[in-house]
Amino acid sequence: MAPQLLSYVRRHVPSDERTVNRLFVSAFIRSNSLVVVRSQFLSGYIINDGDEDFGLLQDVSERIKAEYGEKIILETLVKLFEFVISPADRVVTGAIYTPVRIRETILKRCIGDKSVDELGRLRISDIACGCGGFLMDAAHFIHFKTGKSYAEIFQENIFGIDVQEYSIERTKILLSLLALKDGEDADFCFNLLCSDTLDFSSDNWDETYNGFDVIVGNPPYVCSRNLPEDTRSKMKGYEVCGSGHPDLYIPFFQIAIEMLNATGRLGYITMNTFLRSINGRSLRKYFRRKNCELTVLDFRGYQVFESRNTYTCLFYYDKAGQDAVIHYAVDEQGSLANGVCFTSVSYNVLDDDKGWALNDLDITFAIESTGVKIKDYCPSRHGIATLSNDTYIFQPTREDDRYYYLEKNGTQFPIEKEICRRVFNPNRLTVDGKIEASYELIIYPYLVVSGTVSVIPPEIMWQDYPCTLRYLESRRDVLLLRDKGDTSSYPQWYAFGRTQSLVLPRYKLFFPKFSNKPIRCFIVDDPDLMLYNGLAFVNSDIRRLEILKRVIESKLFWRYVAANAKPYASGYYSLSGVDIKHFGIPVFSLTEENELLSLSNKNEIEHWLINKYGLAEF
Ligand SMILES: C[S@@+](CC[C@H](N)C(=O)[O-])C[C@H]1O[C@@H](n2cnc3c(N)ncnc32)[C@H](O)[C@@H]1O
Repeated sequence: MAPQLLSYVRRHVPSDERTVNRLFVSAFIRSNSLVVVRSQFLSGYIINDGDEDFGLLQDVSERIKAEYGEKIILETLVKLFEFVISPADRVVTGAIYTPVRIRETILKRCIGDKSVDELGRLRISDIACGCGGFLMDAAHFIHFKTGKSYAEIFQENIFGIDVQEYSIERTKILLSLLALKDGEDADFCFNLLCSDTLDFSSDNWDETYNGFDVIVGNPPYVCSRNLPEDTRSKMKGYEVCGSGHPDLYIPFFQIAIEMLNATGRLGYITMNTFLRSINGRSLRKYFRRKNCELTVLDFRGYQVFESRNTYTCLFYYDKAGQDAVIHYAVDEQGSLANGVCFTSVSYNVLDDDKGWALNDLDITFAIESTGVKIKDYCPSRHGIATLSNDTYIFQPTREDDRYYYLEKNGTQFPIEKEICRRVFNPNRLTVDGKIEASYELIIYPYLVVSGTVSVIPPEIMWQDYPCTLRYLESRRDVLLLRDKGDTSSYPQWYAFGRTQSLVLPRYKLFFPKFSNKPIRCFIVDDPDLMLYNGLAFVNSDIRRLEILKRVIESKLFWRYVAANAKPYASGYYSLSGVDIKHFGIPVFSLTEENELLSLSNKNEIEHWLINKYGLAEF
């Protein structure tokens, strides 16, 4: 939505749902020159000349038209209904409405091949229907293909559930307006339930209910920590929620599959993380146990939704499917083009515990089954966590023999040199140039004796580092806000927020957390150098790190990352531990180690490694 319209609605439109609905319905009806005579339901939403909100309606209508064109279409209402949901509600209900081109793609796949007869009898449902975008499109398609009246379609073909009363009300509005636009001005009987789908029981529908022919939709994405306790406890009753901390979309697969009749079809746009995540493990096992023939069009890093960063895929399941395979393809441009080439992968070659490595399957499979996992080849460390980097980490404005000078809010603070260490953020590694140029300083209020770390006591701080203590005192308020103000377990108020990585081994191989191109890493021989933000492999044997560096900088490693790591916008991939933990490092003989280490030409190294992994040149 355009920023002007957005801020206007925020400032001028009351947030109560009835007023919002009246404004949008009236704006739609006026802009389409429609007349409501018979529908009592819609009449209740019409603002007439002389009504209290008429001035506001004129203003809102003009602004919507300025943004979306003279004639307000139903799709605009879907956008407006999504926009007016409060951010707080959105967090707990996962309300994010599906764009029309995705809805059409899913519906085409699920009902596009049905005969007129089949369509006339079809029972199609969205079990988390929002304002009813999918149901509106399905109803329109059935009406157009069969000539059935909307009154019949809403009663016989269309079913929806949503936990929010306002969603059900807006679905009724959208469907009623669809009918009105096509000439049916009436009050309808709907099969729309305001109910928690997790509690669903078939008794909620009429006695003729015997499973749906089609379920479509976009189940709510709500991460476990944002779910109320009673929802989490209901989710425990679902087989697919048995691993990790499941997101709310996970049980919607099982519920939908169990609501389908024997030849039913399911089409979702849904998060793609269940393919590899721990909280998707039980779901993967469930699909295997049921021999589900699935089709997944994975958008990887492509962002389908304007209003939220989410990693999604299209997911199809045909209950009549006979083959225990997953048809998988990637569509990183979100082009939804016909003729995407799907690879059919048998469950036999997939590992439910580890996660399904469906992308670039052959190479991923070869790499993951080679040697030992990277994490077993060499331990890695995250950086320190001060929880107030802005306080501790700095670039000195100048220095003299005794002090570095730190500038904060216009004041220069001298900081005793002996309490400082150099610190490095490996995310800057992608910037070309010398690694030393990226070093910063960190105030390190710790003593290290024979590898054991303890925070410097206040009396020593006062005696040896009075200037630093004075500076930290000036930041005391900020430091006490860490951990939501509960710093009672900190050994001193000026200690770092966490104790991780306060000491690191001498040799470190730094690499970034994110990259959009093959990685460049650095090995540093410096026991005092600290790390923040990124990751480092550490080892007392520098040869291991040198071998690892050659592997990590190879095309092969990058290809693995691009196929399997979590994608971000602009072609970036995450390089965090979970994204690369299954990468295999071959077992090298001493001769092989020497051979690999003796190579300096990049192409020779690539060639040597591809050979060692038993792969064909790419
Ligand atoms: C991602 S939106 C999808 C809306 C619509 N299907 C679409 O694709 O445009 C998810 C919807 O699920 C609803 N929802 C969340 N938790 C639910 C639950 N436990 N039972 C039923 N609906 C739920 C939300 O209110 C929201 O409308």
